[in-house]
Amino acid sequence: MNKLIIEGGHRLQGEVEISGFKNAAVAIIPATVLAGDTCIIENLPEISDVKTLSEILIGLGATVRELGPKAIEVNTTGMTECFADYESAKELRASYYLLGAGLGRFKKARVVYPGGCSIGTRPIDQHIKGFEALGAKVTIEHGIISVEADRLVGAEIYMDVVSVGATINIMLAASRAEGMTIIENAAKEPHVVDVANFLNCLGADVRGAGTDVIKIKGVHELKGCNHMVIPDQIEAGTYMIAAAATKGDIVLNNVIPKHLEAITAKLKEMGIEIIENCESIRVVANSPLKNINIKTLVYPGFPTDLQQPMSSLLTVANGTSVVTETIFEGRFKHVDELKRMGANIKVEGRVAVINGVDKLMGAKVSASDLRAGAALVVAGLVAEGETEIENVHFVDRGYDQLEEKLVKLGARVRRVSL
Ligand code: EPZ
Repeated sequence: MNKLIIEGGHRLQGEVEISGFKNAAVAIIPATVLAGDTCIIENLPEISDVKTLSEILIGLGATVRELGPKAIEVNTTGMTECFADYESAKELRASYYLLGAGLGRFKKARVVYPGGCSIGTRPIDQHIKGFEALGAKVTIEHGIISVEADRLVGAEIYMDVVSVGATINIMLAASRAEGMTIIENAAKEPHVVDVANFLNCLGADVRGAGTDVIKIKGVHELKGCNHMVIPDQIEAGTYMIAAAATKGDIVLNNVIPKHLEAITAKLKEMGIEIIENCESIRVVANSPLKNINIKTLVYPGFPTDLQQPMSSLLTVANGTSVVTETIFEGRFKHVDELKRMGANIKVEGRVAVINGVDKLMGAKVSASDLRAGAALVVAGLVAEGETEIENVHFVDRGYDQLEEKLVKLGARVRRVSL
């Protein structure tokens, strides 16, 4: 197990290159199963989830060749089935995209019930609703989800809950169904659009991604293509928050400012100066941090994935801030660890009331999930003294070369392998 040791109190300054988006990459890699051909995926983040998914595909009969640090060539021609019903697939939530891709390609698939960050119950009823609407039979036995259909026929599907995963999974299966599928109340996140663009690059017919109505006209065959993953707006938002916390001045390169509108707006409310260019954004924090209120919502609202890092920033803002987490009911596990560092936070259900303190003190803390880990990194950067963060493997799932990028920005961070 690794630990990160952070010596707080150093301003972040300079430039950081933002990597490809984890949550787009972990959907596009399984989606290559639909092609039964060779795909080249570029601008991948170097994170453990990408490595795990590549290993799973190889286990399913695909070949995956590294073309460089951020690109792979995936050939799924040799696959005859999609049964990822073994332990390693349990490590990450995105394994469930193999259900939609396997159903679309083979009319059947089996995947171990998905794992992923422990941030709430994370049901999959909307995925199941979509697959059944397309004509599949779904069974869950002994922790394995099985989907099977004689025929996949397009359908009109209304999502009871706006779900990124279910929207993407249904898009995958519907791309090879007979006729038109309409997903209503669809998720509008940028990575839903990126997956739709990838599917269309394979020869699918997906329209309306990015709106709440997505129409997918099934096609008989999909072929391979090359695709570049969009930049990771959650990684970018995390560095923006870290710059604000350390009264820094940083430029983030390889970003799409439009995808960062919610975090940009809230940091500006706190008194942070944000300068946007076409593919970069500059964050300048040199005035006292004002308290604000945050309510996580589906895109384009404030992203739930930045709630935890933002909560760390609010612990040292002036006054009282209120954070409402409307997406995941269990996404406050970082709070107890922040309290060890001197934060003043009271959680009632889905609401955290944060009273700003003058400073945080370094301490030994433990990450409970990916973005809780990111929250502790932000807190460590601003705390007085040294912070030791355990369970860094959570952070490695979603942040590409975290300590290298932070050290380049002037932070004092080192990794200790236990
Ligand atoms: C994706 O999770 C992301 N993970 C999450 O990022 C992100 O927090 C989340 O979307 C919301 O943006 C990946 O893309 C791998 P949802 P997902 O389905 O698809 C409920 C990170 O830190 N729901 O949009 O699982 C669900 O309980 C990770 O990078 C149902 O009720 O999220 C939640 O309340 C964490 N039934 C809400 O919808 C379902 O069938 C949104 O979940 C599915 C979801």
